[in-house]
Amino acid sequence: MKIPSLSIPVIILMLFNSGCNISTQQPRTENSLSIEAVSNAVSGRLSDAVVRYEGMTNNPRSLDEEGELDLVRPGDWTSGFYPGCLWYAWEIYGDSSFLQAAKSHTEILENEKLNGTTHDMGFKMFCSYGNGYRLTGDLHYKEVLIESAYTLITRFNETVGCIRSWDHNGNKWKFPVIIDNMMNLELLFWAFQETNDSIFYNICISHADKTMANHFRENNSSYHVIGYNPETGEVEQKNTHQGYAHESAWSRGQAWGLYGFTLMYRETGDIKYLKQAEKIHEFIFSHKNLPPDLIPYWDLDAPGIPDEPRDASSAAIIASALYELGTYVDAKNSEEIYEHANSIMESLSSENYFCSKNSKHAFLLDHSTGQMLKNSEIDVPIIYADYYFIEALYRKINSENADDTNQ
Ligand code: GLY
Repeated sequence: MKIPSLSIPVIILMLFNSGCNISTQQPRTENSLSIEAVSNAVSGRLSDAVVRYEGMTNNPRSLDEEGELDLVRPGDWTSGFYPGCLWYAWEIYGDSSFLQAAKSHTEILENEKLNGTTHDMGFKMFCSYGNGYRLTGDLHYKEVLIESAYTLITRFNETVGCIRSWDHNGNKWKFPVIIDNMMNLELLFWAFQETNDSIFYNICISHADKTMANHFRENNSSYHVIGYNPETGEVEQKNTHQGYAHESAWSRGQAWGLYGFTLMYRETGDIKYLKQAEKIHEFIFSHKNLPPDLIPYWDLDAPGIPDEPRDASSAAIIASALYELGTYVDAKNSEEIYEHANSIMESLSSENYFCSKNSKHAFLLDHSTGQMLKNSEIDVPIIYADYYFIEALYRKINSENADDTNQ
């Protein structure tokens, strides 16, 4: 599974040239960077990040309105993505400077293991400590992760059958559950495997089944927020918080759902989750407003399309999920799924999205959108886009390697 010894040019060549059947049906992005340029940009940008952020006790998230670096305290939901990028960088490129930086930017998050005020435990701790434990086997990391998982499940309500997402906006929702929360189940499945405590597994199944029943519309798009009554378990609201409208398809929400139900199938082998992931894939890629380069607008139903901002983060999450989903379906479907993932990666690697080497920051991807209607982080680099881009790259490399060994 690991491929630490490959050089960057080899990796990038594998990515774009070896068995990488970009669909001729999908218009290709103009002005794609050369393979050498992408290779240099990825390694150079991450090495630059290591130097710039060395010794910092907050991790990078985005750029503010003046274009200055926005750093976040450990409690922010995005705090684990930068260390996660560094762990993947160490795994792919094998440079020890990435390892040292990954450790220090991970370990500043340790106290979050006790923070029961948020559902974002998985984002924070599994991207950082989770990748760190996977790659180093450090037993202290394992302890931190198990404690994090026990903290997260304090937010589970048996009557509702879900983990509560937010504590804010109590005047709107008594017990909000957002589609993003599917992502935090990965930490709980890991904790089940490590501890054999079935509470983790049972909570994952309950949360996913309730989400499947209540978050999805007939057309397989998802609502962002479901408001439950914590005393009766009844659904009280079907809303959005970050999308254009309650009935619109917020792009990142669709991406979280695709990734979340793909991981549900991985962890359970239950075909109903695979079908759900396939239906989400079909919804996204048959949407009339998905642009030819496959990088979604921030909301697929935003009113000003085609003059709306894109969201590269949604595209990166989708690509990463598709590289996994493609391994679970039959050959005909997997071909289409990989074509979509490869086309997204080609677009994101082009100069239309990949940050110029002259940027005065160290992010990889531009053109993500955080919260459009709050006028926050619009059309800027955001760290979670970089994390899922690197993860997609890693998954792509592994799928190429698997193809090679199967020949
Ligand atoms: N989980 C918050 C977001 O996707 O913006």
